[in-house]
Amino acid sequence: MTTSVVTVAYIGAIILFILSLGGLSNPETSRRGNLYGMVGMTLAVVATILGPRVTAAGIPYIVAAMVVGGAIGLYAARTVQMTQMPELVALMHSLVGLAACLVGFASYVDTSIAFTGAEKVIHEVEIYLGILIGAVTFSGSLVAFGKLSGKIGGKPLLLPGRHWLNLVGLLVVVFFCREFILAKDVASGMTPLVVMTVIALLFGIHMVMAIGGADMPVVVSMLNSYSGWAAAATGFMLSNDLLIVVGALVGSSGAILSYIMCRAMNRNFISVIAGGFGTGGGAVVAKADGQPAGEVTSITAAETAELLREAKNVIIVPGYGMAVAQAQHTVFEITRVLREKGVNVRFGIHPVAGRMPGHMNVLLAEAKVPYDIVMEMDEINEDFPDTDVSMVIGANDIVNPSAQEDPGSPIAGMPVLEVWKARTSIVMKRSMASGYAGVDNPLFYKENNRMLFGDAKKMLDEVLAGLSK
Ligand code: TAP
Repeated sequence: MTTSVVTVAYIGAIILFILSLGGLSNPETSRRGNLYGMVGMTLAVVATILGPRVTAAGIPYIVAAMVVGGAIGLYAARTVQMTQMPELVALMHSLVGLAACLVGFASYVDTSIAFTGAEKVIHEVEIYLGILIGAVTFSGSLVAFGKLSGKIGGKPLLLPGRHWLNLVGLLVVVFFCREFILAKDVASGMTPLVVMTVIALLFGIHMVMAIGGADMPVVVSMLNSYSGWAAAATGFMLSNDLLIVVGALVGSSGAILSYIMCRAMNRNFISVIAGGFGTGGGAVVAKADGQPAGEVTSITAAETAELLREAKNVIIVPGYGMAVAQAQHTVFEITRVLREKGVNVRFGIHPVAGRMPGHMNVLLAEAKVPYDIVMEMDEINEDFPDTDVSMVIGANDIVNPSAQEDPGSPIAGMPVLEVWKARTSIVMKRSMASGYAGVDNPLFYKENNRMLFGDAKKMLDEVLAGLSK
């Protein structure tokens, strides 16, 4: 392929990627969006391999790498559970960061193209920045993977004087950038480059370790954005326009997502990065004197079915527990049965429900729940006072009234779904354990709240059986 054919193919791929992003913004067009993305990526890979920059001798290596990478990808896609998707995405972001670092070092030691004067400085700044962003993305994403998979606790690690540590790190990185650019040859430039890489790796670890469980949604989308900028930096190093454009698309869409996540949690981006919000998750919460935090009223599946049957308006609020229990198909069946009986059933989706952006929407779409009854938090929050039953399925932090009522709570100020304003709220979960943010939930102790203890799938199967009687 000549350079101009490759350029045309790249422009085609860029258009397909933009159409893909557009399609993914709506559940109804998301399949088409995915298809555009796949076709665009195939076009990009084929054009790159057949383009003038790859020699015939290099093709077997590329094909071998693609077979190995493709096999690993296929295996991961087949075996990874839906609940492990956020961790998988974090791991993939780390690979983009690693690739940017490796390409950076390779470009630096590759002396086949001799840059001089301003061009040399620009090329070296590209390498330095590319490795810097790549290393932060790599180590930060690995820690995010650990936190999302529960291998590392959600509690923020707050080192004394951590902001000063970060500032000193930044100054050292700027100093070594100068040293790197002034270096006479590759051997003497390697030391500042390696020192900066180590600092960037430590900074990535420190940044994500300092962030508490409740802020993880912002970190996930922020690392997504970083991985885009790392790819764009790689594009600059390799003079590849497609990588620059695609990296910028991912980087800017990730930045917009981070903004949306911050707004959803009523948090300021800088204070998220400064870290230290939220505690370890999963503990049974007791008051300081060791007594349980209050009395709860339990309910059985049969009684739940009875309440639902008598209701006119029902709002279902799904959370991470629905994903764990894979209960979405039973949720759909219950919705169908109730709608057939004339009950107005709708869903309330919190922007950070589950463990990844759009997590609940994906699960409900998979179970074929009609899109027109799936509402965003802002669209449905006012309707709870006119609702007979609000049914919380494996959700916790996103329905916690202390976000509004307790200014001292770690999640104070985060908008939540006001399920307690319904005539009766039912919370379905296995125990009194806290959610991801590790804070107690006063909803459980409210007078009009009932607890349906057990695995969400098992309990919902029983509720469905009760409804079908
Ligand atoms: P959580 O607050 O984590 O609560 C989920 C609840 O589900 C848990 O309290 C758990 O209680 C219950 N559960 C787990 N397995 C279950 C099962 N098999 N059956 C029934 N219940 C089960 O979830 P949420 O309300 O969806 O809130 C999301 C949280 O995750 C927020 O704090 C958010 O900041 C954070 N987060 C979100 C994201 C994104 S991007 N969405 C990313 C990272 C973190 P039991 O153990 O008692 O059953």
